Amino acid sequence: MPVELFVQNRERLRQLMLPNSLAVVNANDIPPTNADGSLRLVPNSDLFYLTGVEQEESILLLCPEAHDEKLREVLFLRESTPLLETWEGHKLTKDEARTLTGIRQIKWLGEFPRVLHQLVCEVEHVYLNTNEHKRAVIAVESRDARFIRQLQAQYPLHDYQRLARLMHPLRVLKSNHEIALLQKACNITGEAFERVAKFVKPGVNECEVEAEFAHEFIRQCAGFAYIPIIASGRNACVLHYIENAAVCKKGQLLLLDVAANYANYNADLTRTIPVNGRFTRRQRQVYNAVLRVVRQSIDNLRPGKLHKDWQKEAEQLIEGELVGLGLLTLRDIKRQDTDNPAFKKHFMHGLGHPLGLDVHDVGFTTLPMQAGWVFTVEPAIYIPEEGFAVRLENNVVVGEEKNVDLMAHIPLEAEEIEDLMQAGK
Ligand code: GLY
Ligand code: MN
Ligand code: MN
Repeated sequence: MPVELFVQNRERLRQLMLPNSLAVVNANDIPPTNADGSLRLVPNSDLFYLTGVEQEESILLLCPEAHDEKLREVLFLRESTPLLETWEGHKLTKDEARTLTGIRQIKWLGEFPRVLHQLVCEVEHVYLNTNEHKRAVIAVESRDARFIRQLQAQYPLHDYQRLARLMHPLRVLKSNHEIALLQKACNITGEAFERVAKFVKPGVNECEVEAEFAHEFIRQCAGFAYIPIIASGRNACVLHYIENAAVCKKGQLLLLDVAANYANYNADLTRTIPVNGRFTRRQRQVYNAVLRVVRQSIDNLRPGKLHKDWQKEAEQLIEGELVGLGLLTLRDIKRQDTDNPAFKKHFMHGLGHPLGLDVHDVGFTTLPMQAGWVFTVEPAIYIPEEGFAVRLENNVVVGEEKNVDLMAHIPLEAEEIEDLMQAGK
């Protein structure tokens, strides 16, 4: 990863900090499971954005006006020991951390309490990191949350500030380096999708399809961006279906909401394909309806537009398509409860979300869109009574004049999907 990305990101953050302030960003905890088990560490997105560091227990201090110039930017790392190296392998050395992050002052964690105390005594404002994603459900206290509790108990009279208020507007706006990484994640995702489309046929299990994706991602040093949704037939009408254990049958559609994470940047793809390689007339009708909405909604992303207006435009398109498909009547629409409009029976979720270091990335979706934001565009029509659903999802950079579809090269037209699947036979 280019070190300038992290250097620039810290500089952009400093520009937003109040005079005489300090910011502290902690790594995530390693998630425990049962007994002595644990899951793989998920890097803290803010710490990664500001430093490129993925190692557990790391802490970044930014104090732009620290009296001691050497303490204006400090990274604290876990100090390795021969025993730790034996069990867990290599940990960052100070020199490696300098090269990775562009930060000159790298210290071992043992020095953290003393340096922290010195800086806290100098400043008036302390920025701390909280998870302020609108839809976050937080049952477990994070390392940052624990730190906030301890710091506020120790220094109750400081002015504490929300770092998230500064990080969200920075992170929502993607730099060219970041867009290149998102493009790479989309490219790997596209290659895996093409491989899977050639592999799918009646009789394969959803879990075998998941295994194909896993093989392609891992082979390319990537991982899953999120738990994959591989949903045949009616399973596709369960929005968060993750069982991925049913046999795909002839005549069914298979919804694939699966994408790669590369260098911590996420793609988010959905394609819906016919298990036997050919859409039925009805499936194609619904497919083309969703395809028209995805294409129009990609164009509808425009600087200055509010997210809720973009959503509304798509809902109106879907409403028209549902009438065309015989799934709604004009009478249904005329008599609908405006708080629960009729189209919601077949399209009940958001049209898209910011995408980046998190799949549902941070960003102020209450503010007008700007060039440089990256959005998913994911309209759908769910028809449980007919036993299928179609959802299509691409990832798009909002442009000043023209948007850039990072997934433009991944087959999307019904004929392209059929051709691809025939090629696998
Ligand atoms: N894959 C999660 C989503 O589409 O938002
Ligand atoms: Mn998705
Ligand atoms: Mn999505």
